Amino acid sequence: MIETESHFQEERGRRPQSGRLPILLPAMTRCECMAMSFEELSRRMSAERWTLAQAVERTGCGGMCSACLPDLRRYLAVENETAA
Ligand code: FES
Repeated sequence: MIETESHFQEERGRRPQSGRLPILLPAMTRCECMAMSFEELSRRMSAERWTLAQAVERTGCGGMCSACLPDLRRYLAVENETAA
């Protein structure tokens, strides 16, 4: 489930066959299903030394509809880059 991006995320950025420009959605900043911000999830991951898979398993964030996973991965990657 973690590796699978949602249908909505797969559609993001794809040029429709009609020739119209794709609809660009703003990045998610929280898991809507579990009502938890990426900032809070990241803080918990650091405190508990969780991997993303462990965080998903223990909080449910990213494990329900999975729509937030691509943006969560990007958020964590940027955070790791800036921390290094
Ligand atoms: S928005 Fe995160 S699992 Fe649904």
